[in-house]
Amino acid sequence: MLTLLIRYINKIKAMLKQLHALSRFMSDGKYIFDYTISYLFFDNEVVTMKAENLLDIEKGIGLKQVLKKAAAILLNVFLKPYLNYKAENKKIFEGNLILPGVNNRDTKIFDFMNSRVLILFSDRNVYYAKINNYLYFNTYFPIPCIFLKNNTKNILIEELLEYKPYEKWTYHDKLYVINDVFQKQINYLRAAEAKKDYKKMHGSKLIKECNEGNPITELLLSKINPQVLDMEVPLIKLHGDLWCGNLLLLPDCVYYIDWEYSDYLVFFFDLFFIIFSELFLNHDSMYIDMYYRRKFDSEFSKAFQIFGLQFCEHFRADYLYIMMLNHYTNSWKYEDSDVQKDVYRRLK
Ligand SMILES: Nc1ncnc2c1ncn2[C@@H]1O[C@H](COP(=O)(O)OP(=O)(O)O)[C@@H](O)[C@H]1O
Ligand SMILES: [Mg+2]
Repeated sequence: MLTLLIRYINKIKAMLKQLHALSRFMSDGKYIFDYTISYLFFDNEVVTMKAENLLDIEKGIGLKQVLKKAAAILLNVFLKPYLNYKAENKKIFEGNLILPGVNNRDTKIFDFMNSRVLILFSDRNVYYAKINNYLYFNTYFPIPCIFLKNNTKNILIEELLEYKPYEKWTYHDKLYVINDVFQKQINYLRAAEAKKDYKKMHGSKLIKECNEGNPITELLLSKINPQVLDMEVPLIKLHGDLWCGNLLLLPDCVYYIDWEYSDYLVFFFDLFFIIFSELFLNHDSMYIDMYYRRKFDSEFSKAFQIFGLQFCEHFRADYLYIMMLNHYTNSWKYEDSDVQKDVYRRLK
């Protein structure tokens, strides 16, 4: 409890420090914490409405949410003098909401009036990865446009999109999104195959990359039919974190964001990842139910055929486990032991 409190106090201090340090990018005036204490925004009606509409705010009436809300209200009262400022700096950007980067992540500053997002990268490699991935993928997937970049300061400005937040998606929106994902991915896989922009990997290599004795990989390997692991599969440069939180739904299209985990992965990774994460992260079984009711079989067959492979119905679950194994070697492996234990418990 005490460690949690200290962690929060440090986080709040860091947020305030960033707000002041980045004042040349922020409009002058009064700022407030949101009820999840994740970001600070300019206290006016338009900004409040847009912020609440767009950003991922944990809604709910659980104890945690109520406590956070109470804490945010108290912070907004007691920290008022620190949240109200007029900076002397010349403005470079007129932001009105800041999503501070914690744990070395990038900081995002939103300007709702001019529909722009300014991103400050703490890591030069991530900055270049963002630009290169944008250039690489933007022919195949709609990605917010990059308006401006500064290679010396690792800053860029991109288009701010007003999208329908995930909490408001209807059943038809979800259908629209998953169809868009299949269509865009198959189109992209075709292009990657035509350009021969892929590497081949034997399933046994995936096993080698798993830490021996790790409960997650042992569990997955015990479920996968050895015949499936005996396949040679193409590795394609894919999104790597394609879940609904990284899809922005607009009235007539879907935008794909957050390409920083892009890597060479098993060619069906993104397609299975969205099905799996909708259940695992968003607790919605709609996509996985559709998969088991064979609704995506013809699309998967098309994706497999691109590489001369056959989608086999009786390996339906095995493909999902292979995606998870690939996710382990690419991501879960680097998480601390508590996160890994939790993943294991939930997978089981
Ligand atoms: N161009 C954009 N327009 C509107 N909202 C955006 C844009 N880019 C990011 N966001 C919002 O910020 C959130 C975090 O951005 P994202 O790029 O996914 O970073 P990460 O998940 O790594 O923190 C997104 O879920 C989305 O709500
Ligand atoms: Mg994201």
